[in-house]
Amino acid sequence: MLDQDSKAGQPAARRLRVFVTRALPGDALARLADVADVDLWPAALPPPYHELRVRSADCDGIITLLTDRIDGALIAAAPNLRVISNVAVGYDNIDVGAAAACGIAVGHTPGILTETTADLAFALLLATARRVAEADRLVRDGGWQTWDPRLLLGQDVHGATLGIAGFGKIGRAVARRAGGFGMRVLYTTRGDPRDADAATLGEQVPLEELLRRSDFVSLHVPLTPGTQHLIGERQLRAMKPSAILINTARGAVVDQAALVRALREGWIAGAGLDVMEEEPLPPDDPLLSVPNVILLPHIGSASHATRERMASMAVDNCIAGLRREPLPHAVRV
Ligand code: DGY
Repeated sequence: MLDQDSKAGQPAARRLRVFVTRALPGDALARLADVADVDLWPAALPPPYHELRVRSADCDGIITLLTDRIDGALIAAAPNLRVISNVAVGYDNIDVGAAAACGIAVGHTPGILTETTADLAFALLLATARRVAEADRLVRDGGWQTWDPRLLLGQDVHGATLGIAGFGKIGRAVARRAGGFGMRVLYTTRGDPRDADAATLGEQVPLEELLRRSDFVSLHVPLTPGTQHLIGERQLRAMKPSAILINTARGAVVDQAALVRALREGWIAGAGLDVMEEEPLPPDDPLLSVPNVILLPHIGSASHATRERMASMAVDNCIAGLRREPLPHAVRV
């Protein structure tokens, strides 16, 4: 695609450029290469911020991941930028206000990862409740000596009460899975309290009540200034000592230092985390020495099919942005 904008409708010689910050699954990038010059970051680890900024400076589009910080300074240093296309439903890594102020469209990948992420949230819930990771370690480490009626006792999932904080698409998909296990569902939402679909899946309650009544609490809110540390010391102390916290949303929704104390001191029984405040988790992080927590490396949407669909949707968004057309899946500011 040539840059048609530069001289009153006359095609300029310059091809449009897109920086892609990591190789993506599937063949979506081949479609992008048909319409723009693609600068693909070659390494497995994300580009450092400085590199991200330098490479974006003369680009018309960038395809980013949640590990790429796209702030106001980067945006201001990229005068040709038309579109930022994030390969994620969450976009807390992007200063969307700064992008909007410069007329830059921002895209994301909603909808397609809902069921896959709900599968993972439920897998984490089951694994934490039944201590699956500890049990696997015991077998591998040669600690399995006999069948013992007290060995690795956990919590029942069937018939328990599940509190879901954030009742958007993923929260509801988790609630539907909970129905199959005969669980009672409580939820919090900022949405319409008369939402009939939500009411068929559970009971809307304030967060404090949800924390007090739930055996499992699963977090499905986006990270915003209003949800940062939504779960801190006060909220953890309000949960049952037998309760389990599941986080597949964003790490900073939980005050991790408070969570470590809660797990060590028995305010709650366990946690299953797919996301952490700092990712990857630093090698000396205290969470690593806490036994009653399962830690995953942010793999909520990591199925072959879903990651290919996310890549394809991100490329669709990027191509639309390069053409200055409305993005099929735009972030609304
Ligand atoms: C997202 O899309 O926001 C997830 O965290 C990554 O799949």
